Amino acid sequence: MQPQQCKTNQAGSLNAVLVVDDEPSVVRAVERLLSGGKYEVLTAAGPVEAISKLRQREVAVLISDQVMPAMTGLELLALVRRSWPETVGIMMTACRDVGLAAEAINRSLVQYYVPKPWDNRAFLGLVGEAADLHLQRKRRTGPKQEETGLLKQLKEQSGRAAFSLARAVDARDRYTHRHSENVAELALVVGRAMGLSDNELEELRVGGLLHDVGKIGISDEVLRKPGKLTPREFDAIRLHPEIGASIVEPIGFVWDIAGIIWQHHEDHDGAGYPRGLMGDNIVLPARIIHVADAYEAMAADRVYRSARSLDSIKKELMRCRGTQFDPVVGDIFLEQLQKGVIPYPCSHRRLPRGRADRRLSP
Ligand SMILES: [Fe+2]
Repeated sequence: MQPQQCKTNQAGSLNAVLVVDDEPSVVRAVERLLSGGKYEVLTAAGPVEAISKLRQREVAVLISDQVMPAMTGLELLALVRRSWPETVGIMMTACRDVGLAAEAINRSLVQYYVPKPWDNRAFLGLVGEAADLHLQRKRRTGPKQEETGLLKQLKEQSGRAAFSLARAVDARDRYTHRHSENVAELALVVGRAMGLSDNELEELRVGGLLHDVGKIGISDEVLRKPGKLTPREFDAIRLHPEIGASIVEPIGFVWDIAGIIWQHHEDHDGAGYPRGLMGDNIVLPARIIHVADAYEAMAADRVYRSARSLDSIKKELMRCRGTQFDPVVGDIFLEQLQKGVIPYPCSHRRLPRGRADRRLSP
């Protein structure tokens, strides 16, 4: 085996290796193994902390445990592959979980896996290879290409068209004033916290603005009904993701906005609609918008009611993480709420007196 050499990035600073494990003794052991001036070793006790570190600086190699409380290593690595494609993943697993490691390699989420307990020399060799691969990926990608003038113009026009359509939807239902704009803004906070690129953020913004455009196809009697919906009326409302997707399809957005609209009521555990998709089969923007939509429904003052208390909203988000909501997206949303980046309440409209309460919009 070749002796380890210092691994530096193009800026001349040490390559960062991020170790994610909820077991402090494992983190310390890997940290000791990799220290000695060859790498800058960063550590995280779980996926949310790991994502926060990935946002702060470039990470060459991510070494992740599989079994963690908030989300699995596979889920974290899938997210990293999507948002930070140049970062090279290594999975650490116990021998009994070797099938999961094989799945991670087959899905191109990781390049290597390290069995626990590991052989120090072999582990060091793999980290060295992973750092080299990171460098190759960066060279292949090269500096980010400037968008052509035409594409930029097309995106700007798409954004403006989406804004107008969203205004049309919100204007139809006076009870949910600015709902679409609020959802788009909330989704962007989460998207930025997850390190999404500018292009992905723009896709998320347009998806957020248009998520409920299908409500244009729902009758006023159902959409504006002040009381509880009958099962038949509820079925009618549940058609709005499919109607919305069919409305935007002919526009030919540069992003898959129809897919986002179609999936914005799908639940992490498969109990949502219209198709009962599960987990990361649901596109990430739809998972983010799902949480933002629910939060906005609870946290915005409406003319007929005040926002729910912040405490009860937090409890509700905690209760639904992992069932209705993607657990990572849910945790990041709660983290941003805790930091005060997510506003509470969402809007500050003065409530007229004596208005009857009304159901939350589905
Ligand atoms: Fe909706």
